[in-house]
Amino acid sequence: MKVTVVGAGAVGASCAEYIAIKNFASEVVLLDIKEGYAEGKAMDLMQCASLNGFDTKITGVTNDYSKTANSDICVITSGIPRKPGMTREELIGINAGIVKSVSTSLLEHSPNMVLIVVSNPMDTMTYLAHKTLDMPKNRIIGMGGALDSARFKYRLAEAMEAPISDIDGMVIGGHSDKGMVPLTSHATRNSIRVSEFLSAERLEQVAADTKVGGATLTSLLGTSAWYAPGAAVSGLVQAIACDQKKMFPCSTFLEGEYGLNDICIGVPVILGRNGIEKIVDIPLSDAEKAHMQTSAEGVKKTNGLLDV
Ligand code: LAC
Repeated sequence: MKVTVVGAGAVGASCAEYIAIKNFASEVVLLDIKEGYAEGKAMDLMQCASLNGFDTKITGVTNDYSKTANSDICVITSGIPRKPGMTREELIGINAGIVKSVSTSLLEHSPNMVLIVVSNPMDTMTYLAHKTLDMPKNRIIGMGGALDSARFKYRLAEAMEAPISDIDGMVIGGHSDKGMVPLTSHATRNSIRVSEFLSAERLEQVAADTKVGGATLTSLLGTSAWYAPGAAVSGLVQAIACDQKKMFPCSTFLEGEYGLNDICIGVPVILGRNGIEKIVDIPLSDAEKAHMQTSAEGVKKTNGLLDV
């Protein structure tokens, strides 16, 4: 199982590290445009192998896509990250050009890849990959909902003073501060609805904190987060590599599901060896449906800025 991660910045490197630690891939290629940078990160990570007990071989390369040849799964993390006060949408100008050229080069060398897009604005970058690449739609996946759901579970556990392993919940919709749709009415603690434990006001606060999860970290760190984004990507990569058929909310191209068309946006999907093996169309409450519609309008507005 060969995985390529493009972008050896904080998100890319943390993604490579989590993939290696989970020890399911034989090889991870880390590629960056900055001379020697990916090589350095790969060497540092490889020097963790005996300490952390993994056998995955991590190789770093400077912009040499021939080294990514025949990857089973490719991840694009490249592009500029947010600075405090910026929205993900403001990154579109620079990141669209990067995602277009990176994804084209990846496909040239790995015609059977499953592609995971992480660069922001993620739903629009995933849509751009769909419009640019001649690939089946199930093999292009946007990572956002897995991360937003992890942040939702963190906030729910915090509010309930519960261990996170007790909590289940999902965030669908666009990966943006306004676009996220935390499915509060479906969230549970050990199969009991969270509304049994928390007031409506507290739940609203949890949803609000979840939606600005990335922005909160960006203002604390001065740049966007990397541990949870890296861990979320590694979860998707593992589900695909190990054919787990696990359910995650991911950005995928919709053709009528959730009443939406010609858009990539976060919905629950089943991930296996072929990428998105199924889109799970769950019934939403009227409020959730309305929120999903507004979210989709926001994503379409950003898509309108693309030259496709
Ligand atoms: C975040 C970035 C990865 O939400 O979008 O932290």
